[in-house]
Amino acid sequence: MSLQDQIDKNKLPNHLAVIMDGNGRWAKQKGLFRNKGHEKGAKTVKAIVEACAEIDIPFLTLYAFSTENWNRPKLEIDLLMRLLVSSLKKELKTLQKNNIKLNVIGNIDSLPKKTIKELLDVIEKTKSNSRMTLTLALSYGSREEIIKTIKEISLKVKNNLISPENIDESVINSHLYTQNLPDVDLLIRTSGEQRISNFLLWQIAYAELYFTDILWPDYTKDNLFEAILNYQNRERRFGKTSDQLK
Ligand code: IPE
Ligand code: IPE
Ligand code: MG
Repeated sequence: MSLQDQIDKNKLPNHLAVIMDGNGRWAKQKGLFRNKGHEKGAKTVKAIVEACAEIDIPFLTLYAFSTENWNRPKLEIDLLMRLLVSSLKKELKTLQKNNIKLNVIGNIDSLPKKTIKELLDVIEKTKSNSRMTLTLALSYGSREEIIKTIKEISLKVKNNLISPENIDESVINSHLYTQNLPDVDLLIRTSGEQRISNFLLWQIAYAELYFTDILWPDYTKDNLFEAILNYQNRERRFGKTSDQLK
């Protein structure tokens, strides 16, 4: 039986998030410039998005560019932004064919105008798609998101729109970039690094974490299915005892 056939459709993660890491090391290992790693990585994005739609994962969120990534050399940042625009242009077809809706989280205003324009265009064109929501985290940092949230809620408190005693998880959720997304169930990071790198700190409070040494450009559909099978064999207790779950 193929890995895909072994997946239990009734126990899929509702929200899968991926830290796509290792493009640079992949290129270096091959004696290539880093941009070749990013280009190959973009091909992996397409394959993984299609695989998630195929098995009907409702929400997929990909960490594509962090607030900290602005500290990379300008040449690499420019290349990543150009690659993003060309991939969006090229993959609109794929999104439409698979009924996928595009969404973004992050400080979008800090992106180049051309990138914003292309993003808004694809978001608009795919807004009625309903099979899967694909969220790209772009210029995203969890701490920046939390600061933004606190500022917005504080302002509402100051203007008597919310009273402090009514601030609960749902109020906070509704001010995060991820306001329309459920909590993350499974977080995958490729490339062997075992850290979160400022990604969805609030939203992964009870996510299952899965780390693999495979570099993102080498990551395949079967690698994804392995991670999902591993997730399906875990017991998510949410603080309860194992007996309580039966
Ligand atoms: C992930 O690969 C892509 C981005 C962060 C944009 P890296 O570029 O971080 O690759 P490594 O970690 O240097 O190998
Ligand atoms: C995290 O990867 C950000 C993205 C995958 C977009 P990095 O390569 O930037 O993270 P660090 O620097 O290893 O923590
Ligand atoms: Mg990296």
